[in-house]
Amino acid sequence: MDPILNRRLTRRRIVTVGAAAAAGWALAPLTLTARAASSGAESGQSQAGAREIRLTAAEGEVVLGDGTRYRKWLYDGAFPGPALRAREGERLRITLQNRTTAGTTVHWHGIPVPNPMDGVPGLTQAPVGPGDSFVYEFDAAPAGTYMYHSHAALQLDRGLIGPLIIEEHTPHVAYDRDYLLVLDDFLADSPGPLEAMAGNGRRRGMMGGMMGGFVVPPYAALLINGRPPDDPDVLEVRRGERIRLRLINPSGATTYRVAAGGHRMTVTHADGQPAEPVTVDSLVVSMGERYDVVVEADNPGAWPIVAASVEARHRPARAILRYRGSKAPMPAVGAVPEGLRGGRMLRLGDLRGLRALPEGAPDRTYNLTLSGRGETVWTIDGQAWPDAEPIRVSRGERVRFNMVNHSMMLHPMHLHGHFFQVGGVLKDTVLVPGHMGRVTFDFIADNPGRWLFHCHNLYHMEAGMAREVRYT
Ligand code: C2O
Ligand code: CU
Repeated sequence: MDPILNRRLTRRRIVTVGAAAAAGWALAPLTLTARAASSGAESGQSQAGAREIRLTAAEGEVVLGDGTRYRKWLYDGAFPGPALRAREGERLRITLQNRTTAGTTVHWHGIPVPNPMDGVPGLTQAPVGPGDSFVYEFDAAPAGTYMYHSHAALQLDRGLIGPLIIEEHTPHVAYDRDYLLVLDDFLADSPGPLEAMAGNGRRRGMMGGMMGGFVVPPYAALLINGRPPDDPDVLEVRRGERIRLRLINPSGATTYRVAAGGHRMTVTHADGQPAEPVTVDSLVVSMGERYDVVVEADNPGAWPIVAASVEARHRPARAILRYRGSKAPMPAVGAVPEGLRGGRMLRLGDLRGLRALPEGAPDRTYNLTLSGRGETVWTIDGQAWPDAEPIRVSRGERVRFNMVNHSMMLHPMHLHGHFFQVGGVLKDTVLVPGHMGRVTFDFIADNPGRWLFHCHNLYHMEAGMAREVRYT
């Protein structure tokens, strides 16, 4: 049973959850198999009770703020792709039409779907050929903030990304408005291996203000909701409202630190899963991660929400929080919120989920070293995918991964098909810091199949930093 989601609370009453949770609502055992009844016929629902969605991948044009046009691959002609929304427990039937010139798949990042629906070419399905279609069908559960993207080659950095939201029946936090903030790094040209993208656009990364010895892709800009910093998305708010912001990072190779001018942020969900609220001035969102935060609109004006790369020297992305009726001028491009210079930054250890794995010792433990050879090969325990042994697990086991990062780059490690317990919270992607950073997580092997475990930096994954987790 889940003590939070089963409570029938009005939005106003839910406001007190921080105190209630802190006062000792126990962590409940994980019940990811719970499914709510389908809510019946409505538009988009077929007789069988599934919500029908069509998604077309095709070449298309993106026009950025200054009018520059780019040829990209897009879902439904939009960048980012359309926000797919479902109600918790609903059945989704999503038909992918491939109108691109290469094989493609869609991965529903974070949702523990049945293995054949997971969208990993060569592992869970054959690539969907040009002109072909494929039907993905799964239950929209558990509720949360997710994303979808192509899992074929480097197509994610061609533009095949989008947000996916599963609405809670009863949110544990109150809010009046819900905005998505999709953080992306935008490539002007077709992606290739990093060394092949070398040339004038090739950039050196930096670490802690020092130039580092690694390359980053030559991104044209960092974007929020598909908009560059000089043509930002504007989020309208009214004084007194609570604004839920869903931060989603489907970018190819960028880890962001995010802060808002004039406002603190209360983190309420990590990778879509509810957590006890914790108020901070900034937080880091790495590739594949999602965080939901609530902002109290109590400081009228026009404020920047800024997402700055922690590794590279690209101009930070931004959106604007604008109070209705405010005459305040637009914040200057390059204005840096206080929260990016100091204040409290969220740490993983600050988070306490409302659900958790039961306590227990692992049945099986893997010690995994993350490292690389030069800039062209990235490895897990010295092996580079696809020339890598599967990580074997058996159904019902509690499996522990101890990861250590022998490189200086960040590796956001993502496990398909499962949530894992990391510290006090359930996640599906966790950032392993560079320079001997260590992270341990546990998961229950409760979703049989062949699952990918990999770094969500697209270029690291393509250069080998992936393994199969195989049920035997
Ligand atoms: Cu976003 Cu293999 O995943
Ligand atoms: Cu990596």
